[in-house]
Amino acid sequence: KGWQPLKISIIGTGYVGLVTGACLAEIGHHVTCVDIDEQKVGMMQAGHSPIYEAGLEALMQKNMEAEKLSFTTDSRGGFQHADVIYIAVGTPQNPDGTTDLTAVEVAAELIAQHVVKDVIVVTKSTLPVGTNAWVKEQIRLNLRRDVTVEVVHNPEFLREGSAVYDTFNGDRIVIGAESREAALIIEKINEPFDVPVFMTDINNAEMIKYASNAFLATKISFINEIANICEKIGADVGEVSYGMGLDKRIGSHFLQAGIGYGGSCFPKDTSALVHLAGGVEHDFELLKSVIRVNNHQQATLVDKAKQRFGSLAGKRIAILGLAYKPNTDDMREAASLTVIERLVEEKAAVIAYDPHAIEKAKPILPRSIAYGGSLQEALTEADAAFILTEWDEIKRFPLSDVESLMNSPILFDGRNCFQLEEIRKHNIEYHSVGRPS
Ligand code: UGA
Repeated sequence: KGWQPLKISIIGTGYVGLVTGACLAEIGHHVTCVDIDEQKVGMMQAGHSPIYEAGLEALMQKNMEAEKLSFTTDSRGGFQHADVIYIAVGTPQNPDGTTDLTAVEVAAELIAQHVVKDVIVVTKSTLPVGTNAWVKEQIRLNLRRDVTVEVVHNPEFLREGSAVYDTFNGDRIVIGAESREAALIIEKINEPFDVPVFMTDINNAEMIKYASNAFLATKISFINEIANICEKIGADVGEVSYGMGLDKRIGSHFLQAGIGYGGSCFPKDTSALVHLAGGVEHDFELLKSVIRVNNHQQATLVDKAKQRFGSLAGKRIAILGLAYKPNTDDMREAASLTVIERLVEEKAAVIAYDPHAIEKAKPILPRSIAYGGSLQEALTEADAAFILTEWDEIKRFPLSDVESLMNSPILFDGRNCFQLEEIRKHNIEYHSVGRPS
């Protein structure tokens, strides 16, 4: 039968909620985004995105004008008429590595209080195996009216920095549901995205999300270990990963060696999966190693610099790139946090630059460091520079300027931004990851 737009409410306007909301509005649905943060809602009502994400603000503004997308702090009004409610609140990590479900619990209670008709609740947040059943129970216990609430798990696979693109060009949409009817409604909602759908049960959908992120993290730690061996035997990890990736069974993605993975997903989801396994008396040895390798990898650049200089005390060190990856201003679990903390401990004078992340970085980085308004400013008179994020602006910066601006042109490149042949044309001492110096 014909496709019809639905009334959709989304609770939580972080990366997942806001991108999902704007994209669902773009394909025709009427979307209301609910968030308890008044300041954030005010900003979005004025057409501004609280996060730096390519294409998002334009998509928001376009669909707000078309009256398909709105923002509110009023959960009652926001949920009342909804056919489907998405839960996209944060599921951060507790200090012990388990998942903090407080925000999900609050969302479930709000939904239970305010729904007045049958509704499907779709969980987008990453939830440990078994949690969707708990969400359903929380809603059932708090329901005020005689309505039916179905819970469907629809995990998110978008990457920050290309979240809008990924929503329209994903490899798959996973729908985990108890009933086929509910699964089919969610499939229909997503039909205009034209992305292949895989329907399964809720447990499987929960596991697919964790296993996928754990596998990608494993690829990264694997190639970083290979890189560390390459350094010792004089091989080039770029060539090695290219050669490996030609095998379709291996695939060329996520084999980029560097200073390890960061962000709000891989570190959190890998430790949550280790805990989850522990809870059923399975020692997930492989994944524990993946995490250890990553923690170690974040420190390797400072170790290299210490070896090179002896002492870093008083050295002026430029940090180029702060975000955990390019095209985002997200600082969560960024390698720069570890690297800068170590450099400050070593009493280096740090001057940092990032095209977009400085505002978010300032409150969480040590107060003693300075910030450059441009790459030029950060590099001027530096004794060494660390590249921590592979922004295009950094990759395109003329090496001749690096040579002339710096006190001594010594680069520690944690993202392998430059070709070795290119570097060799300049008088630059270059230390990268898993490649000959
Ligand atoms: C990741 C997954 O890629 C998404 O599919 C998933 O939906 C998301 O987590 C999530 O769970 O919400 P994201 O964290 O946004 O997405 O970013 P990625 O592009 O995956 O990068 C993660 C980290 O790995 C970055 O620090 C990046 O620099 C690093 N990385 C990535 C490498 O060091 N090497 C690579 O080859 C690839």
